[in-house]
Amino acid sequence: MDIIVAGHICLDIIPDWRIGSIKTIIPGHILEMSGLKLSTGGAVANTGITLKKLGIGTTLLGKIGSDSFGKVILEILQKEGKALVENMIISKDEISSYTIVLNPPDTDRVFLHYPGPNHTFNANDIPYEKIKSGRIFHFGYPPLMKKFYENAGEELVKIFRRVRKMNIITSLDMAMPDPESPAGKIDWYKFFKNVLPIVDIFMPSIDELLFMLRPEKYNKIIKNRYRFDLKLLNQLSEQLTDYGTSVVVIKLGNQGLYLRTHKIEKSNVSRIINPSQWNYRQLLSPCFATEVKGTTGTGDATIAGFLSQLLDGREPEKSITLATAVGACCVEAVDATGGIRPLPEVISRINSGWERLSLSIPMDNWKYDYQYKIWRGPEDQSR
Ligand SMILES: Nc1ncnc2c1ncn2[C@@H]1O[C@H](COP(=O)(O)OP(=O)(O)OP(=O)(O)O)[C@@H](O)[C@H]1O
Ligand SMILES: [Mg+2]
Repeated sequence: MDIIVAGHICLDIIPDWRIGSIKTIIPGHILEMSGLKLSTGGAVANTGITLKKLGIGTTLLGKIGSDSFGKVILEILQKEGKALVENMIISKDEISSYTIVLNPPDTDRVFLHYPGPNHTFNANDIPYEKIKSGRIFHFGYPPLMKKFYENAGEELVKIFRRVRKMNIITSLDMAMPDPESPAGKIDWYKFFKNVLPIVDIFMPSIDELLFMLRPEKYNKIIKNRYRFDLKLLNQLSEQLTDYGTSVVVIKLGNQGLYLRTHKIEKSNVSRIINPSQWNYRQLLSPCFATEVKGTTGTGDATIAGFLSQLLDGREPEKSITLATAVGACCVEAVDATGGIRPLPEVISRINSGWERLSLSIPMDNWKYDYQYKIWRGPEDQSR
């Protein structure tokens, strides 16, 4: 096993709703559905299955109940490979986490989410002995997991400290907290200050970062009065590397992927990547052009692509290019992992001249690199 993916997992229950609007939900009435799709959701399933499909040895650490939903989750995961689920955490007395996705034809989706074991998952649930041969430990979605967002992320710190002592690289992804839940109200500055010093690779999305660290800007963005720019990305990424993370990757939706690194020498991540290639980098990789069928799991897939390249000791230009390509494969299918192909296929698609989308943010004093088709920032030290 090379990569351990831990964190949030749930069962998505998606009725096939073809006829009737959201307004037809009336107490006492029946609405006829056309079928049902069951799929696994959350960082563990999405990033984990993507890694497996890319061809990386992966083990999943999600916490589920010993109920029927838990069995369905295991069954779905096992279809991708039996070894994937060997270390899943099964809680005796809990009901598995689920999300009922109401997807009426006339409006945006509505989610009914039950967090279940995601809220009881804690540092003692991890089978440390069984994962000691792993090289990267990736954790996804603490804002959706009570024990991991409360107390400034102290429980997450416990896990990461222990995993680091085992000479494993640590990696973290966030999620958008529910503004109405306690997670919507916590002090994320405190959380980052506490957690990021022991995170080697941090890969949030721009929306999450703005919500957590620049709420006034986030409010403007959702009202369409503002769009992020390079200055803001540089400030945010510097803040995150100042907290102690050496590799920061920010997912920018249809504007691609931003990479900022600090000094890699002597950092934990220098075990797998070459400091002379990775010190003080600043790159932006635009999206690959493709037909978008659905964006579920895009962030998770992108992360899987990036980690797969670090594991191989690839340089930053290739790592973010491949990550962006895996993100694009993901949007080509309605579900989270249906579009993912093995690594060699993704690489040959890139090499055969896959078009990139043009950016709509001004690139100021950044330079375009025609070889890689990515942008280099003014502080990119390889120029
Ligand atoms: N329309 C698109 N076409 C091609 N690539 C895309 C598109 N949208 C996103 N991507 C790629 O996928 C990456 C991740 O997407 P996004 O920024 O939406 O992540 P996220 O917000 O974490 O998503 P998620 O909703 O899965 O949590 C982007 O950085 C980009 O490279
Ligand atoms: Mg995400």
